[in-house]
Amino acid sequence: MRSDSSVEIFPDPATLFRVAAEKIAAIAHAAVATRGRFFIALAGGNTPRELYLLLARDEWRHQVPWANTHIFFGDERCVPPDHPDSNYGMAKKALLDRLALPASQVHRMSSEQEPLAAAAAYEQEIRRVLESAGNELPLFDLILLGLGNDGHTASLFPGTAALHEKEKLVAANYAEKFKSHRLTLTLPVLNNAHHVMFLISGESKANIVHEILQAPQRSFQYPAELVQPEPGKLWWLLDRAAAMKLNPAAV
Ligand code: 6PG
Repeated sequence: MRSDSSVEIFPDPATLFRVAAEKIAAIAHAAVATRGRFFIALAGGNTPRELYLLLARDEWRHQVPWANTHIFFGDERCVPPDHPDSNYGMAKKALLDRLALPASQVHRMSSEQEPLAAAAAYEQEIRRVLESAGNELPLFDLILLGLGNDGHTASLFPGTAALHEKEKLVAANYAEKFKSHRLTLTLPVLNNAHHVMFLISGESKANIVHEILQAPQRSFQYPAELVQPEPGKLWWLLDRAAAMKLNPAAV
């Protein structure tokens, strides 16, 4: 791992998500103190749902300066927002409905649109809100990410075109395994963030976690290994089950 990366292992999912919430609150307050706003991109999938439910609870809801926060999404399935597979829909039920933020502060990918148009529209939305014009890369304060068993993150799947995107901020990425497009932030955006936080829980991730964090030299890199924020901070937050194949002495 690079010097500004850290791996932290927690005894159980509840502790993992509590510490993640504490870190999110600290990053949010620092961003608001410095720049007046906090820009976060939420992860999709199942893992972060417990974190979002925790952040929505009364005792946590007031720990994050949500009134100064703009919520974006790291990726989205090409389904309507009320579809059971929607990452926005999951976050809405688990967190957003409890925050009652103004619509102007929740930036959903228009996943019901044609994928290329949706990706282009989201790119414009990011540039407009984060005030990054021209070639300037937008600077998220925090991007939450999950990890798939094939080493994908967001919707950057192994062998897909979006992995090589150097210009666009958002890609409409065709994923053969799903026979469909996904919308995803691209590596230039992920690698420009102040903080990138992987949240990984469960025994099913133990193999890929070992592969990425401690495996011997390989001729290829998994998509998640390409997330190397410069000069941002990279956090790998794992529960013990996800870390069970790691050599603790080498973490
Ligand atoms: C998605 C996510 C994806 C997810 C990983 C892990 O849209 O599914 O962005 O990258 O984070 O697949 O998913 P789980 O948390 O469900 O294991």
